[in-house]
Amino acid sequence: MLQSPRPTVYIETYGCQMNVSDTELMLGKLTESGYESVEQPDGADVILINTCAIRDHAEQRVIGRLGEMKSRMKRDAVLGVTGCMAQRLGSQLLDRARHVSLVIGPDSYRDLPLLIESARSGIRTTATEFDLEEHYEDFTPRRFDGVKAWIPVQRGCDYRCTYCIVPTTRGPERSRQLAEVVRETESVVSSGISEVVLLGQTVNSYFDGQHDFADLLRAIGNVKGVRRLRFTSPHPNDFSAAVIRAMAETEACCEHVHLPMQSGSTRTLKRMLRRYTRERYLECVDKLRKAIPNLALTTDVIVGFPGESEADFEETLSAVELVGFDDAYTFKFSLRDGTPATRFPPSDTVSDEIASDRLARLIATVRAGSRERNLKLLGERREVLVEKSARRGGLLQSRTRDFKTVMIPGDVSSIGRYLSVELTGTTGSTFIGKVVPQRIALPLAV
Ligand code: 5AD
Ligand code: SF4
Repeated sequence: MLQSPRPTVYIETYGCQMNVSDTELMLGKLTESGYESVEQPDGADVILINTCAIRDHAEQRVIGRLGEMKSRMKRDAVLGVTGCMAQRLGSQLLDRARHVSLVIGPDSYRDLPLLIESARSGIRTTATEFDLEEHYEDFTPRRFDGVKAWIPVQRGCDYRCTYCIVPTTRGPERSRQLAEVVRETESVVSSGISEVVLLGQTVNSYFDGQHDFADLLRAIGNVKGVRRLRFTSPHPNDFSAAVIRAMAETEACCEHVHLPMQSGSTRTLKRMLRRYTRERYLECVDKLRKAIPNLALTTDVIVGFPGESEADFEETLSAVELVGFDDAYTFKFSLRDGTPATRFPPSDTVSDEIASDRLARLIATVRAGSRERNLKLLGERREVLVEKSARRGGLLQSRTRDFKTVMIPGDVSSIGRYLSVELTGTTGSTFIGKVVPQRIALPLAV
């Protein structure tokens, strides 16, 4: 007789790395509870959409996707919405979409197997309580990436940037115990992964009651087998001298910082409640660059924030040029319900036409700057870690310590290996590389 097959679960992830990491935790929990993870929603017994609420566009995509699931999911499948949009909209989602039976916020994944069971017997539930103790310490994440590991070290956010929905969707900031992060890192390394990325909403404000982010960097850098250590995303105000020193002195710590700037205008930064000025941001950049030679910097920038004038925007452009970012994620401001930015008078609204025009000018400035920087790197040698097959051209995608993407020839057996490459070409943003023999240090003859 055939054994009854295990129920299947499909999870689709939107948004940031924290959501990717949460999906890994959920899949870990569900596979441990007897579910089989599948790659397609069609035919799955359970479908979870792990959502992002940061911009309206992100939510609209999910709404479209939920509509699509209605015709694709099998009749008795359970469809659940998890993550930030679930937290933000709660039971409204159940009212609006009759085919959704679970709405689960980021602090309620512990109950996932139970909630799915009850949904399978017809009970529709919303679970959106915050839990300040919750770090899912006893979960074993099921990692998708065999080359680098995302390790959450902090959940939630205590800043109150006026544009941002995250404090509402992920609750107050809390940090994991350093010993737990070390334990997870050791287990990751023992599975053959040598690059770790520490995750937190303002990751460098990490404090577990005893240890700060400097301590954490040193501790993780000391775990045997960690060859590359990254973190995302820091807040400029939390780069203390101790953190910068720890970065400089920790060999595994890569020469790249993603340092969200948001705006180059002090007036706008104030209205964003970023708690730094243009000058303080630039000072932070200087300190980092002084301590860490050849540091690459990337950033996030928002255009069209309420009240942003042409002069404010030009300050953003000039700051982008002054810093010389290696790359930037650029966004048009999106007004989120429940954020302090809703309280600016309507007359402060920047029209979509102006915001679009500024976005295009910003992107052009970022591209020109990164192209100029990247052209100067041609001919240099770099150590790369091979990440995966590239989407086109039968090439492999690899990454330098300073976060440059390098396409190289080779076969999949190189994935996960460190190679030495010469940068031979650039599109302006990514590179083409030639693998060169590693220089081997020969013992001196005696
Ligand atoms: N509108 C546009 N961009 C936003 N971000 C956060 N909130 C908003 C918003 N309401 C951007 C910020 C942040 C990145 C993750 O998303 O630049 O750093
Ligand atoms: Fe991540 Fe923020 Fe989007 Fe939530 S709202 S998924 S924390 S980017």
